[in-house]
Amino acid sequence: MTTPARIDRLAIDALTREQAEFELERLAREIVHHDGLYYQKDAPEIADAEYDLLRRRNEEVEARFPDLVRQDSPSKRVGAGPVEGFAEVRHSTPMLSLANAFGPEDVHEFFARIRRFLKLHAVEPIETVAEPKIDGLSAAGRYEGGKVVRGATRGDGVLGEDVTANLATLVDLPKTLAGRDVPELLEVRGEVYMRHDDFAALNKTRAANNEALYANPRNSAAGSLRQLDAGITATRKLRFFAYSWGEISEPPGDSHWHFLQRLESWGFAVNPLARKCSDVDHALAAYEEIADKRASLDYDLDGVVYKIDRLDWQDRLGMVSRAPRWAIAHKFPAEQAETLLNAISIQVGRTGAMTPVAELEPVTVGGVVVSRATLHNEDEIARRDVRIGDTVVVQRAGDVIPQVVRAVLGKRPKKAKPFTFPTICPCDLKTSVVRGHDEVVARCSGELACPYQQVARLRHFVSRDAFDIEGLGVKQVSAFFERGLVRTPVDIFNLEANDGDKDKPLAEWDGWGAKSADKMFAAIDERRKIDLERFIYALGIRRIGLATARLLAQHYSSLGLWHKSMRAAAEERLDAPDESKKPEVVGEAYAELCNIDGIGLSVADDLVGFFSESHNLGIIKDLEACLEVADFIAPALGSSPLAGKTIVFTGAMEAMSRAEAKARAESLGAKVAGSVSKKTDYVVIGADAGSKAKKAAELGLTTLTEAEWLKLAERL
Ligand code: IVH
Repeated sequence: MTTPARIDRLAIDALTREQAEFELERLAREIVHHDGLYYQKDAPEIADAEYDLLRRRNEEVEARFPDLVRQDSPSKRVGAGPVEGFAEVRHSTPMLSLANAFGPEDVHEFFARIRRFLKLHAVEPIETVAEPKIDGLSAAGRYEGGKVVRGATRGDGVLGEDVTANLATLVDLPKTLAGRDVPELLEVRGEVYMRHDDFAALNKTRAANNEALYANPRNSAAGSLRQLDAGITATRKLRFFAYSWGEISEPPGDSHWHFLQRLESWGFAVNPLARKCSDVDHALAAYEEIADKRASLDYDLDGVVYKIDRLDWQDRLGMVSRAPRWAIAHKFPAEQAETLLNAISIQVGRTGAMTPVAELEPVTVGGVVVSRATLHNEDEIARRDVRIGDTVVVQRAGDVIPQVVRAVLGKRPKKAKPFTFPTICPCDLKTSVVRGHDEVVARCSGELACPYQQVARLRHFVSRDAFDIEGLGVKQVSAFFERGLVRTPVDIFNLEANDGDKDKPLAEWDGWGAKSADKMFAAIDERRKIDLERFIYALGIRRIGLATARLLAQHYSSLGLWHKSMRAAAEERLDAPDESKKPEVVGEAYAELCNIDGIGLSVADDLVGFFSESHNLGIIKDLEACLEVADFIAPALGSSPLAGKTIVFTGAMEAMSRAEAKARAESLGAKVAGSVSKKTDYVVIGADAGSKAKKAAELGLTTLTEAEWLKLAERL
């Protein structure tokens, strides 16, 4: 009999019926196998083109022998669409990130800020817990009645992935909690990491199997946890340090330090280097101690986290743009390495800002190969006297962009060449470069016509905090742009519909195949529904970062209202171009915008500028037509009397700092405004209040004394 190994090479026409049956069985098996590798493990073994050949052969054999089509034939599976990845988990309380401190001054400033915010006396001690900052990925385990019921990754902090089966394979996470005082509901949060020896062993096996190596233990931990087959995770020896909680059915206690002890008593691994510190000097001493021990540890740390120990203070401090005010990460100094600077190129950003980029001889810095690094701007190059051909010191800290720190003058070759900043944009338009007299940033003047700016805007549009479309990264967007397929954001959403019209559909492009194209189209479809704040951020308006986008989403609630208000403000501004005019004089919509706490005049003008440009209005209109932008949903506030109200604070308060009052009002769902208008609901009048109190009286607004405010804020 012919062996199967030869059947797979026979021409379809030459197949006997028996061979065809054999072949269909083999193809079904192989295709399922490769689907699994591709969709579930993100680790394909064969090229897309090869996979497509398998599918095509399957179809052709079936076309010749239609009665042999198998029940489990790949051709019967609905499309080649992606198999579901992990299910989504919405975190009941967001998983936060941390603000950074880079030196002792920043740590002192952190303590001072806490003191100001809480209005503490100069002598009142501020106790903290200093903990190692583990370089892994954060995850949460949920326990009900002491039994583990769910595991989730952090994801973007709001939505994570359901990795219950994977987390269940970690020995450091007990299945059942020990001890008696276990809360009925408890979500434990901490860091998943991989030890150096386990990382080395894993990479050794991978090398032996000709598999791609993981760059560092952190990536390896992330890749190992996010396996659709939890059986693989189980072989990876992941570990977990617990350090905080999410949802919990009873108050966690009085202090963070005590909570860590409770975590340990329930059976979690808590990092043994955590220290309770009585003041800032102790905290800095703990940093030194942990830094000294770092080299002898068998896992990676990237800093020390200081957390305010008193939990009532933590509550009062709350959070600001996705990070708690009550904690800070004191990072270890960046890792550095020397390498050659081969050239300097210019990168044009989405607002035309031109950044010089060092093209380096590739070098490993802190476990990652770096071949490009930022040189910031023209003045910085001059200040550091960095020349092409120099040996330079490059540094990389955490996930920030690598930087060129300085040139090693002792190694400067004679032919090292100073860099002349270009006076025209590297784009085809050859537009001139402008630099305002007190600005450090040089900009291309081509605006929307400059192709570099166009690509940069698109890249921003698909970036992680914006549309974050899987399979559509910087590389793909740039390639689509070059081929004229995607020129504006809305083209992304028409990619699939237009795909058939071209001489060459995406699936036939180099490096693409039916599967990767389908996978990307599916990811694009998923993003047809998006949150308002992400949408606003994605537009890439100058100076509108995530935090500001959120402020706008919170204030205007819906895309319709925001859009309408911005256009109105833009028109008012156009009619009153005099910059010295007060916002109220310019118009109502403009004044409302400027009145949002956290939005300064320059940000307001950037917004208004964006909405004065008909090209931008066209982009928003096109996107509105094909997307569903979800309204901003304020966090559940129960029956807060302040929900949706606008409040203004004026004068000095005794019991609360202005910062705390503002944070408290916002956490109760109120909007805090900087000046009084007829839209203000409450004006809180402290000591020595001036013109705002007067204006409130004139407008007949509801005013509150500090005591009345404290009562409303439930702080009495
Ligand atoms: S506390 C509410 N403690 O660092 C505070 N985070 O840069 C949330 N991390 O997302 C984090 N070790 O993944 C905390 N001892 C530690 C940590 C730690 C590592 C990670 C965590 C967080 C990231 C922020």
